[in-house]
Amino acid sequence: MKKLLHPVTITLFVVTLIFLLPFLLPHKEVKIFSDNELRERALSTNMKPTPTTYTKLLAVVDNPDNRMTPKKIALGKELYNEKLLSKDKTIACATCHLLDQGGDDNLPTAIGYYGRENPSALNSPTVLNSALAKAEFWDGRAKDVEEQAGGPIQAPFEMNMKPNEVVERLNKIPEYVTKFKEIFGSAISFENVRNVIGAYERTLLTHGAYDKFLEGDNSAISAKAKRGMALFLTKGCKGCHTGMSVGGQSIQKFPLRRYLADYIGMIFEPDLRIKESPFPFINEGGFLGQDNRLKFRVPILRNISKTAPYFHNGAVKELKEVVRIMSKYQLGNEFTPKQIDEVVEFLKTLDGELVEYEIK
Ligand code: HEC
Ligand code: HEC
Repeated sequence: MKKLLHPVTITLFVVTLIFLLPFLLPHKEVKIFSDNELRERALSTNMKPTPTTYTKLLAVVDNPDNRMTPKKIALGKELYNEKLLSKDKTIACATCHLLDQGGDDNLPTAIGYYGRENPSALNSPTVLNSALAKAEFWDGRAKDVEEQAGGPIQAPFEMNMKPNEVVERLNKIPEYVTKFKEIFGSAISFENVRNVIGAYERTLLTHGAYDKFLEGDNSAISAKAKRGMALFLTKGCKGCHTGMSVGGQSIQKFPLRRYLADYIGMIFEPDLRIKESPFPFINEGGFLGQDNRLKFRVPILRNISKTAPYFHNGAVKELKEVVRIMSKYQLGNEFTPKQIDEVVEFLKTLDGELVEYEIK
């Protein structure tokens, strides 16, 4: 008996117990939701379907400082596709943001003026639904799509133009002069170029299976996708990827968690270059987000299956791997392969078609 109560035995017992505890406690299963519960859970946290009528669209995205009008939107569409907005007249917004390919270019790093790569190796995010975001760009430095549109036109590695050059060029085309005059009652200005493009971008919302499910159609998404959706809603993904755009609402740290094993792994796999890289992948481009503090505007997940490769520097090709990284580094709860499959199945339901609003 005395021997059993020896401090060493007690310590051993306690340590063993601590190690066994996770196995002894009953495993928390993901709650099984009925279709209605699942839908209510999403809707009650502001994960809403996109509007399908123009009136509802205006209620959601109109900008009091740049009211949407049919003429503004139509001119914005022309300029979105206008290569004259780039120095060598070969690049338009649509060159990097292809609307029929998920709203991006499917390249790891954007390529602009004279084949120049984005100097921070940044990946083109989707323009689809980006008007729903609270801030634009990977570090959230533009407040809305109107402000954002001025960036690429002037960036030397994108369209490489000066505001006055843009105005001069457009002034040479009488139709543009007339249209700007009709809309704004004044001559062409760089600000109004941004405004018309922004107004058009506000119409680029997509609607798909996920929206149909939220609207009440239980058969719109599969049972597997519903299990993935339950994981997404209950395990913490939606804490960051939320709102109508399923993202774009806040700026968050990435990676949120670090693991000793990564640093140790680096000794054996110098290729991982974890030491230089704060990321769970090689950090090409050296971009460190807002204030260089590893803070990124949470990406919009609508149409995510069409916008590979992923992350700000396009470092990861497979959606499965992205979900694994997110579960491990953002939630601190690495998903099993089955859970990853289910979440990927849910993410696919976020694909949608551009809504053809009857703009009037
Ligand atoms: C050379 C390719 C290229 C061109 C041309 C280009 N973009 Fe982009 N776009 C990018 C990249 C790369 C980013 C991310 C840059 C960053 O975060 O610093 C981006 C970001 C954006 C975003 C932010 C999306 C979000 O959710 O944060 C919008 C909106 C956008 N571009 C619209 C446009 C418009 C409008 C034009 C034309 C005036 C345009 N882009 C021209 C590559 C391009
Ligand atoms: C704490 C906030 C946070 C949580 C929680 C979170 N994410 Fe993310 N997610 C981010 C940020 C920030 C990025 C951008 C990182 C980057 O590009 O460097 C991102 C990127 C992504 C991307 C890639 C998007 C793209 O366009 O490249 C996907 C997909 C994604 N997250 C899915 C998920 C899933 C699924 C979960 C739950 C398992 C999750 N996220 C949990 C913040 C979060």
